[in-house]
Amino acid sequence: MTTDTVNSIVITELRKSYERVTGSETTYAVDGVSFDVPKGQFVTLLGPSGCGKTTTLRCVAGLERATGGRIEMGGQVVFDVPQKRFVRPEDRPIAMVPQSYGIWPHMTVLDNAAFPMRHGRNRRKGQDIRKRAMEMLEQVGLAPMADRWATQLSGGQQQRLAFARALLGDPEVLLLDEPLSNLDAKLRAKLRQELRSFQEQFGVTALYVTHDQAEALALSDTVVVMNQGHVEQIDRPEQLYDHPGSSFVADFIGSANLLPVQDVSSRGDGGVVAKTDVGPVLCLRSSAGRDQHRAGTTGGFVCVRPEDVQVRAVSPAPADDEFTATVESSEFLGDRLELVIRAADIPITVSARAGLGCRPGEDVVVRFDPATASYLAS
Ligand SMILES: Nc1ncnc2c1ncn2[C@@H]1O[C@H](COP(=O)(O)OP(=O)(O)O)[C@@H](O)[C@H]1O
Ligand SMILES: [Mg+2]
Repeated sequence: MTTDTVNSIVITELRKSYERVTGSETTYAVDGVSFDVPKGQFVTLLGPSGCGKTTTLRCVAGLERATGGRIEMGGQVVFDVPQKRFVRPEDRPIAMVPQSYGIWPHMTVLDNAAFPMRHGRNRRKGQDIRKRAMEMLEQVGLAPMADRWATQLSGGQQQRLAFARALLGDPEVLLLDEPLSNLDAKLRAKLRQELRSFQEQFGVTALYVTHDQAEALALSDTVVVMNQGHVEQIDRPEQLYDHPGSSFVADFIGSANLLPVQDVSSRGDGGVVAKTDVGPVLCLRSSAGRDQHRAGTTGGFVCVRPEDVQVRAVSPAPADDEFTATVESSEFLGDRLELVIRAADIPITVSARAGLGCRPGEDVVVRFDPATASYLAS
């Protein structure tokens, strides 16, 4: 039963369908999801609304009973269909940080923090509770406010309290479902940094859910990209950005120009020449993955990030690896120009240096750098 890996959570082929009043075939909100949460890592489930993130997290917490699959936690099986095993939420080694922080308004900061030690899975007794809670409040900078009512804390302080409280329950893993999504953009950015420093300070193991790609990239050691109940890709943030495995991931993480491919040929050095409407594009990056999510495309896509599109004035004439495009729009954003150009009826977004002089209607010469062009196979 015990695994010799250092995974805090191992999820295998998790499936969950909700009962439907009407309709014939079963649809799965979570459809065969597998991933690990290694001890000490911050792992994020990222994907658009409705892709099954919350359902997955609730199955991990035991708040939903999955339809199939297996969940191991701290080396114990907490859910397994063939074994008919279901460990109750309160007996799982987790702490959930709710979206609203779930701070008790009728308690002081200290009593809020101490709550899991008085009522939780790892209950304690006596003076030790107060001492430990104070130490934790000290660490998160809330000690001077220990005797205040919890409602007298600012949003940021409430988040710190929610963390402190969750950690005082000694969980194997913290579970967080979009904890920043109710906040305005400025506070969200600030609390994101706080979260990040918490993570570093305490070395917590966390399973985090968000639909916000910037949040996922900034916070996570590993991101599990989900789409329609499936896992699309599991990778480190930089890998996801630089080596998206599908057009879905390329489009969802950052922005991407996706050019449909008619034909491909491999070169000896691992590079791929992809035939597109703007001409052949040499790609030194390619994914072996299947791209099932764009019907009617069999040849895959070339993916080029806006910042990797090279644009210059029309003269001299285009070389073999260049092509001509017409500027449709040009927006000055201070440090850069955001252009939309069009070639062979394909719009291409370009992030260009601010000094580049070009106006809508003018032609430019374009080059994709092979080192940053990815071929995404179908
Ligand atoms: N209690 C429920 N009953 C029926 N369908 C649900 C329930 N909760 C979620 N769903 C459906 O399951 C799918 C995944 O939902 P959810 O896990 O909440 O997605 P996410 O958190 O990624 O936005 C959606 O299609 C949603 O409508
Ligand atoms: Mg959700």
